Amino acid sequence: MTEAVLGTLVWTLPRPNPPYYPGSFPLHFEKRLWRLLGKPNPELILHVFGGAAKIGKRVDIKPETEPDYIMDAHALDLPPNFFKAVICDPPYSDEENKELYDVEIPLKQKTWIKEAVRVCQNDGFVVLYSDKWIPKPPKCSYWMRIIVLPGQNHRGRICHIFMKDGGQKYSQFTTKGEDE
Ligand SMILES: C[S@@+](CC[C@H](N)C(=O)[O-])C[C@H]1O[C@@H](n2cnc3c(N)ncnc32)[C@H](O)[C@@H]1O
Repeated sequence: MTEAVLGTLVWTLPRPNPPYYPGSFPLHFEKRLWRLLGKPNPELILHVFGGAAKIGKRVDIKPETEPDYIMDAHALDLPPNFFKAVICDPPYSDEENKELYDVEIPLKQKTWIKEAVRVCQNDGFVVLYSDKWIPKPPKCSYWMRIIVLPGQNHRGRICHIFMKDGGQKYSQFTTKGEDE
């Protein structure tokens, strides 16, 4: 029996070049992710906690980041089923949100994830990038996982890519079962 497994990549990536936005993605991460997702039109990519992300549209609560949409990730004033990829790189705690970004809106994981899934197309990608394994959102299937190593003495990150239901369950990785 051939069994589908969740494909897992490990990317060792350098820190971004200074001056960089606090908490920004490692160098090359966005470009590689974009290629992995099949190079979707950047107009159809949404960063829900945008910061200084480069490929796609950005939502951020802080006007200083000059986002495409100044909005709270918990209540997106955007249409349902619209974006091909919705990428979420939230602050990792309320304390960190206050300290790094001076934002005091409590992070409610279930709520912002529900919003991210809502604005994603069926068969589109919901990408959750964090310092921990965030559970699979409702109405989604696992698609691929990337372990990001941003350098020695830095915390690794876990990036799960989900496909909103209607799509292929796993990426192309398969393994042969013991009975073959
Ligand atoms: C980890 S940073 C994102 C960094 C981004 N990936 C980059 O490469 O620059 C998190 C961002 O979320 C924003 N943020 C925090 N709470 C938010 C909320 N409730 N709604 C929208 N944006 C929020 C912060 O202002 C900050 O810019």
